[in-house]
Amino acid sequence: MGKYLNDFIITKTIGLTQKYQLIELHATDGARIEEIKPGQFVQIKIDNGTTFLRRPISIHDVDIENRIVKLLVCRNGNGTNTLCDMPAGAVINLMWPLGNSFSIPADNNDSVLLVGGGVGVAPLLYLGKILKNRNINVNFLLAARTASDLLQLDTFKTLGNVYLSTDDGSAGEKGLITQNSVLDRPVKHIFCCGPMPMMKAVAKLCHERGIDCEVSLENVMACGIGACLCCVEKTVKGNRCVCTEGPVFNIDELTW
Ligand SMILES: Cc1cc2nc3c(=O)[nH]c(=O)nc-3n(C[C@H](O)[C@H](O)[C@H](O)COP(=O)(O)OP(=O)(O)OC[C@H]3O[C@@H](n4cnc5c(N)ncnc54)[C@H](O)[C@@H]3O)c2cc1C
Ligand code: FES
Repeated sequence: MGKYLNDFIITKTIGLTQKYQLIELHATDGARIEEIKPGQFVQIKIDNGTTFLRRPISIHDVDIENRIVKLLVCRNGNGTNTLCDMPAGAVINLMWPLGNSFSIPADNNDSVLLVGGGVGVAPLLYLGKILKNRNINVNFLLAARTASDLLQLDTFKTLGNVYLSTDDGSAGEKGLITQNSVLDRPVKHIFCCGPMPMMKAVAKLCHERGIDCEVSLENVMACGIGACLCCVEKTVKGNRCVCTEGPVFNIDELTW
């Protein structure tokens, strides 16, 4: 699959909370967004005079019919603040689609659980859509510190069952995501993205119970194309670039 550089037009930008923005981009002519796979990301050029490296952001959703790509962005610093403040009509340049993707189970009777924390829920929406299109029954377990940080719940609910955990118990079950009672049920595959301690806890649980599990890593990146080595993750097969050989890894490959 090719890697492209294209301008995309911001068609809609919605402040979900003060911290999180849903940004809809229209693919300009010739951009083959149907090639995007769930789990892939884009590198965004942010022209604010101080953000020199492109910023990696997961592909949250793809609407092939309307030629729209959606991003879910957390205001984390200079670059993401500029991105979240851009108005509809602005044009941004993307390097895309980058990285590998989640593995779609061959057997559509397999039970799957998509586990996301914070803005780590971003890549799980398009994955859920693809799984649903393959007639796989989709379950989401989503977590945040508090109810107002749970993002895109209504959209996730259109794709499958949604189970929730919050630190303060303001939505769903109170406590760590790994304590959620949905994990008492049998599950064959877990796909996970979120803060590193959360992914490590989910990986530990999956190792203990023999559940197949893939995690999407968000190591700090610079080039996004395997040239600078700043995103390297140590694996059982040696060092791997998260930007080209990830961001998705099976937990059996990781040294966690
Ligand atoms: C594969 C991948 C997918 C991601 N998907 C999303 C997403 O869907 N939504 C989202 O909101 N965020 C996502 N991130 C994180 C996002 O890239 C960073 O929050 C962003 O790059 C920070 O840039 P900044 O200029 O706003 O902050 P800065 O002011 O540069 O830094 C603030 C913080 O962000 C971290 N950071 C800085 N540069 C990077 C970088 N290049 N890569 C990762 N972290 C960085 C720094 O360590 C620091 O803690 C993803 C990261 C990766 C690697
Ligand atoms: S970000 Fe440069 S090698 Fe991965």
